[in-house]
Amino acid sequence: MSGSSSPTVGVIGWPIAHSRSPLIHNHWMAVHRVEGRYDRLPVAPDAIEGFLADFPSSGLVGANVTIPYKEIAYRAVAERDPVAERLKAVNCLWTDGGRLVGANTDVQGFVGNLDVALPGWDDNPRVAFVLGAGGAARAVVDGLVHRGYAVRLANRTLARAESLAALYPGRVAVCDFADAARAALQADVVVNTTSLGMKGEGEIPLELHRLGPETIVADIVYVPLETPFLARARAAGLRTVDGLGMLLHQAVPSFEHWFGVRPVVTAELRALVEADLLS
Ligand code: ATR
Repeated sequence: MSGSSSPTVGVIGWPIAHSRSPLIHNHWMAVHRVEGRYDRLPVAPDAIEGFLADFPSSGLVGANVTIPYKEIAYRAVAERDPVAERLKAVNCLWTDGGRLVGANTDVQGFVGNLDVALPGWDDNPRVAFVLGAGGAARAVVDGLVHRGYAVRLANRTLARAESLAALYPGRVAVCDFADAARAALQADVVVNTTSLGMKGEGEIPLELHRLGPETIVADIVYVPLETPFLARARAAGLRTVDGLGMLLHQAVPSFEHWFGVRPVVTAELRALVEADLLS
C-alpha cells in the first residue's frame, strides 16, 4: 500500500510543477498494490549532475526525466536501451547492480498509442508527414521510420530538420516550412510535434480539408485536450489521435521497467488525467 514518507519513484525536470506523471503512476501503483509513492522531484540545473551521480544510492527505485534533462541523463547512465541510444535522450532511469541504467519510452508512447487507438494503422506503411524537429519530433520520426514509413519533415528552422533527417539516411526527406501544406497532401499519417496549437500560439499551416479521407492526424500537444488542429481534422472527417494518448502510453514501459508489471491504459486512467487537465 502507498503512504510511506519518502518517494520511491518520481519525475525530475525544471520546472516540473505541471507534470501529470504522478497521477498516472500513483494510479497504477494503487491498482497493482505497489508500495511507495511517485512524486515530482524538482532538480535545479546546478544540482542535476550530482543528483544523477547519487541516484544509485538515493533509495529511489526509478525516475522519469523530462525537459530539460533528457540529454544529460543520456550521458550520465552506464547503459541505455537501443531507443535511447538512437535518440541520444533518456526519459526513464533505474539502477541495476549499483549502476545507473536508462531507457527512452517516448517512441513507444507514440506508436503504442496508435496501436491501441487505431489498430492496423501501419499495416501498409507509405508516407508520413511530420511538422517540427525538436525533441518530441525525434521520437515521432524514429517510430514512423521503424514502422516502415518514408517521412517528410518540415520545420520553421530548416537546419534543425536537416540534422534530424541526417540520422535516417534515405528514410526522411526535408521540405520547406512554406511548402508544408503541399508536402502533407501525399501523407497517410500527419503529425504535429510543434507547440503551435497550444492556447495562444499560431495556426498550423496545413490544409486538412484537402487530405484523403483515410488520413490519420496526430498532435502531440495535450493542452488543450483537443487542439484546434485536431478539431479541424475531425471536422474534415479524418481519423485523429491526441497527445494525451502518447503521454499515457509512454508511461507504460517506465512502470514495467521499475516494477516488472505491464500496466494498462484504461478509460478510467484517461478520465482521471482528463479531469485534472480540465481543472
Ligand atoms: P519539444 O522537445 O517539445 O519538441 P522543442 O525542442 O523546443 O520542444 O521543439 C519545439 C518545436 O516547435 C520546434 O520544431 C520548433 O521550431 P524551431 O525548431 O524552428 O524552433 C517548433 N515551434 C515552436 N514555436 C513555433 C512557431 N511559432 N512556429 C513554428 N514552429 C514553432
